[in-house]
Amino acid sequence: MNLQDKVVLVTGGASGIGRATSIAFARSGAKVALADIDGRGGETTLGIIQQAGGDALFVGCDVSSAHDVKSLIERVVARYGRLDCAANIAAIEGSPRRIDQVPEEEFDRVIQVNLRGVWLCMKYEVTQMLKQESGGAIVNLSSAAGLVGSVRSPAYGASKHGVVGLTKSVALQVAKQNIRINAVCPGGVITPMTERIAAASGGTQAQLGSAHPLGRMCQPEEIAAAVLWLCSDEASFVTGIAVPVDGGLTAM
Ligand SMILES: NC(=O)c1ccc[n+]([C@@H]2O[C@H](COP(=O)([O-])OP(=O)(O)OC[C@H]3O[C@@H](n4cnc5c(N)ncnc54)[C@H](O)[C@@H]3O)[C@@H](O)[C@H]2O)c1
Repeated sequence: MNLQDKVVLVTGGASGIGRATSIAFARSGAKVALADIDGRGGETTLGIIQQAGGDALFVGCDVSSAHDVKSLIERVVARYGRLDCAANIAAIEGSPRRIDQVPEEEFDRVIQVNLRGVWLCMKYEVTQMLKQESGGAIVNLSSAAGLVGSVRSPAYGASKHGVVGLTKSVALQVAKQNIRINAVCPGGVITPMTERIAAASGGTQAQLGSAHPLGRMCQPEEIAAAVLWLCSDEASFVTGIAVPVDGGLTAM
């Protein structure tokens, strides 16, 4: 994928899919601003990119904070002059409990990070992209749990269905301004998040993988490939869609 000199923002860049996506963008020639609440993980991703000769910046940011997200976009524009693409990946998984066992505070936090976080990021990314004649492209990370119910965590499932709704709605609002917005809906991906999910249910990632028609979980790079394609000019007529990249999980 050729993304030479594109200015790209990746949230959740300290771990898992966000790290793999940041590295893939940098390898494709993009200038990458990666943001995360986890400073140590963010610096590690930054180091990997810089050691390979890439141009990147790490910004500490809580995506559920309007103040943090607004200053994140300001930092990116101050450093690189514009924002061509954004991948809104940061999220939390919620706990595997039946609804009657879940404290209100947990529901609120999942929605704040996963849904308000994506809304805030899009708000300030779109604000910048509207200033640019070239427009831009945004990809939001939803989930297979954004397309079908989540027995594990209804709050997580609701937040990811919300991300699909936000994606389609904002895509319609800004299509005429040459800003494309799409969502990617992964099945099981081998990341620290699924390590925690497997451990919380007393299982393994391999067991989670067996639920997929392709018979396995995927690597974060397989999700990054879809994100890069949607951001690239190869996807110039694609907007407002939620693409399952899920080994057939939601085909059943
Ligand atoms: N791993 C999977 O199987 C899977 C499946 C479907 C969807 N997803 C989605 O893919 C995305 C990435 O998941 P992952 O598996 O790489 O998870 P991960 O836990 O490995 O990475 C998530 C990153 O988000 C960051 N983050 C969490 N809260 C934040 C906040 N408030 N502000 C800024 N950063 C914050 C974390 O620090 C972490 O670096 C998420 O949106 C997740 O819901 C993952």
